[in-house]
Amino acid sequence: MQTATPAALPRSDALVFFGATGDLAYKQIFPALQALMLHDELDIPIIGVSHSGWSTEKLRQRARASVDQAAKDQNGSVDEAVFARLSARLQYVDGDYNDAATFQRLKKALGAAQRPLHYLAIPPGLFATVIKGLQQADCTGNARVVVEKPFGRDLASAQELNRILRSAFPDDSIFRIDHYLGKEAIMNILYFRFANSFLEPIWNRNCVASVQVTLAENFGVAGRGSFYETAGCLRDVVQNHLLQIVALLAMEPPAYQGFGAVHSEKAKVFQAMRPLHADDLVRGQYDGYRDEPGVAKNSDVETYCALRLFIDSWRWGGVPWYLRSGKCLPETAAEIVVELKPPPQKLFDDAAPAGGRANYLRFRLSPNSAVALAARVKRAGKEFLGDQRELYLMEQEPGEKSPYERLLGDAMAGDGALFTREDAVEAAWMVVDPVLEIHHESRLYKQGSWGPEQARALIAADGGWHNPILKQAPA
Ligand code: BG6
Repeated sequence: MQTATPAALPRSDALVFFGATGDLAYKQIFPALQALMLHDELDIPIIGVSHSGWSTEKLRQRARASVDQAAKDQNGSVDEAVFARLSARLQYVDGDYNDAATFQRLKKALGAAQRPLHYLAIPPGLFATVIKGLQQADCTGNARVVVEKPFGRDLASAQELNRILRSAFPDDSIFRIDHYLGKEAIMNILYFRFANSFLEPIWNRNCVASVQVTLAENFGVAGRGSFYETAGCLRDVVQNHLLQIVALLAMEPPAYQGFGAVHSEKAKVFQAMRPLHADDLVRGQYDGYRDEPGVAKNSDVETYCALRLFIDSWRWGGVPWYLRSGKCLPETAAEIVVELKPPPQKLFDDAAPAGGRANYLRFRLSPNSAVALAARVKRAGKEFLGDQRELYLMEQEPGEKSPYERLLGDAMAGDGALFTREDAVEAAWMVVDPVLEIHHESRLYKQGSWGPEQARALIAADGGWHNPILKQAPA
């Protein structure tokens, strides 16, 4: 698949990131900057902006702590020479985003840079203020902008956000990050579907019984209680990460070799999705969430969602799509199961084992990537009895590039292939908009369980949830 023609586009010549003292910067941005520096893709001024009263020295210390932690998490070590180069390039600008003087200081820090990339790693409520500040300080000409999800908090605010972005930047300079699109295993969905021909004849309502996608995490809101209170699981991961996965699974083949065609086909899937109704959604809250810092004692915010979705298209008419995600579940794993219809005739007594499925395709997205095809095979002996086996097409550890390294590098090169387009973002909001306010109350679930009881009823007619099991492929 050809991406845009980044070779023809000038690279950004400075990187500015707003929200420099925040959680996202600590967990994702500094490690990505270190990796970009390692691969010689960051020989430009790097400016962190925030309103925390920090100094450049303090930002460098924070960057150090962040890359130390990232190296520890991967059982690696920090490349000292690379970090020294990163640290030397880091500058910090402090100030209120409402104060024009903040942006004057930023302009000064940018020096001779002509084409900065502004990365807004801040809550969407601040986007308009920052963009206005950048415009007034004359920092938007030839610049690019990256915005973090969630893009708004409903359809109306997403439309307003897109209007504000377009008032300051041309379309091809706006990059809406959904880091799931930069993950190897998710990029493989597109590749696997359209690099093979055997899938296409069965990839539709005639052969597919249902599809389920699980994004499970075995930890809670981890210090992000006040953010979570404004978002909830539906806005945090369903409207973006999960629906993006569905779009890649459900889209028609792109009409030509280019990401423009992929974007168009994905947008059509969102447009064909039936807007959700309260009865399609089970909301859950883990026991103990209300005791987290920043969380209201009577909060009804969901930390778990399970939902049933329909795509009213020729290909998918009548096929239920089940999505679920939650915090404090038993595993941290993401998986897709595409269940195929059973054979039309039951020739063998054991052909439909209790609660079992004959054939399915399973895509493990994290913590490792795998694609497996399940089929029944006969056991040795006189009887026509068999077992279900999984044929592993691939099983591998995550790629070397983190999604943030890949996506920031792409944005600096002007390559929008792995970012989301305005029409797709708005169409995805249209699907969830009806249940943002009108929904059943959150059901309590025990930490370490697979969520509230009601989620089981939602999918009972289609054989129940397939819980991801973290086991190795057979040798
Ligand atoms: C983020 C959400 O977008 O994705 C988090 O805000 C969630 O709540 C995270 O934990 C999951 O991402 P990953 O890459 O760890 O699966």
